[in-house]
Amino acid sequence: MLEINLSGLKLKSPLILASGILGVSYSSMKRIFNAGAGAVTSKSIGPRARKGYKNPSILEIYPGTFINAVGLGNPGIDNFLSEIKEIKENKIPLIVSVFGDTNQSYLNVATKAEQAGADAIEINISCPHAEVSSIGIDKDLTYSLVKTLKEKLEVPLFVKLNPNVTSIGEIALAAEKGGADGVVAINTLSAMVIDINTKRPILAHGSGGLSGRAIHPIAIKKVYDLYQLLKIPIIGCGGISTWKEVVEFILAGASAVQIGTALYRGVEIITEINNSLLNFLKINGYKSISELIGLSHEFKTQEVPDFD
Ligand SMILES: Cc1cc2nc3c(=O)[nH]c(=O)nc-3n(C[C@H](O)[C@H](O)[C@H](O)COP(=O)(O)O)c2cc1C
Repeated sequence: MLEINLSGLKLKSPLILASGILGVSYSSMKRIFNAGAGAVTSKSIGPRARKGYKNPSILEIYPGTFINAVGLGNPGIDNFLSEIKEIKENKIPLIVSVFGDTNQSYLNVATKAEQAGADAIEINISCPHAEVSSIGIDKDLTYSLVKTLKEKLEVPLFVKLNPNVTSIGEIALAAEKGGADGVVAINTLSAMVIDINTKRPILAHGSGGLSGRAIHPIAIKKVYDLYQLLKIPIIGCGGISTWKEVVEFILAGASAVQIGTALYRGVEIITEINNSLLNFLKINGYKSISELIGLSHEFKTQEVPDFD
């Protein structure tokens, strides 16, 4: 079976919509849920409406691999409350991704989302092309933000980690110490493409975040390393486009996964992945997908060989 319990959230599948993709309206999130997702994560929502960066803001650079700098464009929490309410009326498990300028403004946005019915809050401290990334690169700022939110919120709190740091483990441990109920690994990787004819970066913002197929092995390594450090659940994210990448994430130590970029191919991939996962469990004699969590750690990696 694919049902999981993620920090108290009972989900029908471990597949969750990642933040920023089809996550601004009830109707798009309903399509993802109806296709078989266990939960949906909203676009990151801030204290006020924000336009985001100019175009070009997203571009496919290799098949299935994208670079984007959309700049956290969002309707602002007050304009988003009606969507949250509608999603909740339709009993769709909803994680609201939030960001702010200060601990207090993160808390204000998160509290409004919780009161409107969010089942969990995810904090975006990791977007590589926006100011919030400065929190996600500092363990003390991360600890203080998580602690501030945990003191007030009742629903589970997930922390979306920035992979663009020297030690993702240090930041994750700070989040765990602050009381986080789980971490999401990873957000996009800081990247740039330059047009050789105009001799300028192609994205209007200059740099952006890499997502999709190319980042999957990097995300697997981050999840693998985090599993050895953390007690709280890990939600794997990065480059899932088939069921095999989902299994890999779970073997590395993820309890659930998020899917973003690959949805450009259509929401049907969620149904396909669920069906293939069920088939994989059946063929291999597992009753529950949770039995696979962290199994790759049973393999002992080779020790450094001695010199002759
Ligand atoms: C166009 C676009 C917009 C995104 N916006 C957000 C966002 O608002 N908040 C956030 O936490 N992550 C955002 N992300 C990152 C994704 O949630 C995800 O972490 C990343 O894309 C890696 O997963 P993927 O390879 O499955 O897309 C965005 C990604 C893309 C491609």
